Amino acid sequence: MAEAKIKTVQGGMVNENIKMTGKTVLITGANTGMGLATAIDMGKRGARVIMTSRNMDRGNEAKDTAVKESGSENIIVKQLDLSSMESIRVFADDINKTESKLDVLINNAGVMMCPQSKTKDGFEMQFGVNHLGHFLLTNLLLDLIKKSAPSRIVTVSSAAHYKYLGAAIHWDDLNLEKNYTPTTAYAQSKLMNVLFSRELSKRLEGTGVTSNSLEPGAVKTDLQRHVGTHENPTFMDRIMGWANSLTRRWWRTPEQGAQTQIYCAVAPELEGVTGKFFANCKQTGESNDAKRDDFAKRLWDISEEYTGLKQKSEEQQKTESPNGGEVPKADDCEVAQKET
Ligand SMILES: NC(=O)c1ccc[n+]([C@@H]2O[C@H](COP(=O)([O-])OP(=O)(O)OC[C@H]3O[C@@H](n4cnc5c(N)ncnc54)[C@H](OP(=O)(O)O)[C@@H]3O)[C@@H](O)[C@H]2O)c1
Repeated sequence: MAEAKIKTVQGGMVNENIKMTGKTVLITGANTGMGLATAIDMGKRGARVIMTSRNMDRGNEAKDTAVKESGSENIIVKQLDLSSMESIRVFADDINKTESKLDVLINNAGVMMCPQSKTKDGFEMQFGVNHLGHFLLTNLLLDLIKKSAPSRIVTVSSAAHYKYLGAAIHWDDLNLEKNYTPTTAYAQSKLMNVLFSRELSKRLEGTGVTSNSLEPGAVKTDLQRHVGTHENPTFMDRIMGWANSLTRRWWRTPEQGAQTQIYCAVAPELEGVTGKFFANCKQTGESNDAKRDDFAKRLWDISEEYTGLKQKSEEQQKTESPNGGEVPKADDCEVAQKET
């Protein structure tokens, strides 16, 4: 007799009977908000959970909460500051050495509309943390994730990536040094999240690793801590401030808001589904800019350079490739493809 299918989403919540026993799930920014809600959920489903926090006092407190609320002891917390490439490299090195597998990576951490500031490596904070930090982290963990296939990479974006909310990639000023506004910086970084996830899905074709992004809706968390606090707010900053204070009472709880990322991480029907964008536990349309393959490729190339990954791969090619590091020209690749 055919087994009855589990309905994945019921009443907006992902069915608790979908288990993650034997799977390892890593969640960035898991000491509060949706990251913590996701950690608790994954613990309840039986996964080994790796929470990250930039501050270990907050991280340890959150881990105790996750252990208590999920009833699982298989939860650990590690320090990761996405505004520091050194911290990301130390963290990834540790994970690669100590974990035998990584089935799900949830790029959840984020900073929103902060006053103009820079990461330790000199990048605009939202560009640096929300995009470049996760870009570097994901790439450094990619071999482990590929080894664990079928596996999933889930990147948390936002409705702020849509053009009607002013989102654009400022190619000539990615660090927004000329025209910083809190909303512009956040929206750009969230559009980058979707472009990154799209390009990643292409690069992972045939590996058994999927890459999807999502928006969680409006959720009552600490994320909005800077909204409405700016000295010289633009019209858009003011709108965000008003919307925040007027509508906040109706927003989702962190547990409700976390459902779409949980769905992307566990839904059996998403096995093999990649390069898509989700909201309300359903596939939905990302913005037109987020669908631009030329943008996605250009951002990837820039991010490789900014994070130092490109340099590394060229050096690696020199020592590892059989032709002594000669990078094949595009024409050569075409010939090679025709020959195989
Ligand atoms: N809340 C919403 O309405 C909403 C809507 C759309 C999208 N999102 C997205 O959802 C994701 C989760 O946000 P949330 O609402 O749960 O916010 P949150 O409660 O503020 O959680 C954000 C997490 O990111 C961490 N973080 C910030 N800067 C970091 C850094 N430099 N290195 C490492 N971790 C860092 C925070 O750590 P600290 O606690 O130390 O600051 C926190 O753990 C974000 O990507 C956000 O853009 C949220």
